[in-house]
Amino acid sequence: MLKPCMVLLALLLWPFAATAQESQTPPKAATPIPADAVHKANPVKPTPESIAQGKKYYGYDCAMCHGNNGDGKGDVAIDEKLKIGDFRDPATLKDKTDGELFYILKNGHDHMPAEPIRLKPDELWNLINYVRSLSNKKAQ
Ligand code: HEC
Repeated sequence: MLKPCMVLLALLLWPFAATAQESQTPPKAATPIPADAVHKANPVKPTPESIAQGKKYYGYDCAMCHGNNGDGKGDVAIDEKLKIGDFRDPATLKDKTDGELFYILKNGHDHMPAEPIRLKPDELWNLINYVRSLSNKKAQ
């Protein structure tokens, strides 16, 4: 009588085992970012001026998706059901270099459009400094 029970139990647990394994495979990388772009150093120091400048452009170009406070819940993001990380959480950008963020801003990434207005490189670095400052209470 015990045996069929075990079989049943194994059958019941099987889908869970399969799901657990699936969720361990890392999500598919979208567009790969070239190594030299990843290692590109940020030449602009995160000074209050740089962050203030970044904040200005962020308000024009980014807040509609990323939210005024960086929570990833801007109007466009909600309308289009975009999945966007919370910039206020240090974990969101911790595995990304400034070079990677620069590449993402310049070229776009998945549902994130390439920077629509032609910003100069320094202005993009200012944006990166600003976005990073959102998870750093001391910099605000
Ligand atoms: C149309 C909506 C939209 C706009 C506008 C937009 N983004 Fe994004 N952004 C996204 C989405 C969606 C993602 C996540 C896609 C991905 O996997 O890269 C993203 C990802 C990012 C990332 C990488 C975050 C991560 O978790 O890897 C950064 C940094 C970023 N955006 C900064 C900006 C900045 C700065 C601006 C303004 C110049 C901006 N975004 C404008 C939608 C947008």
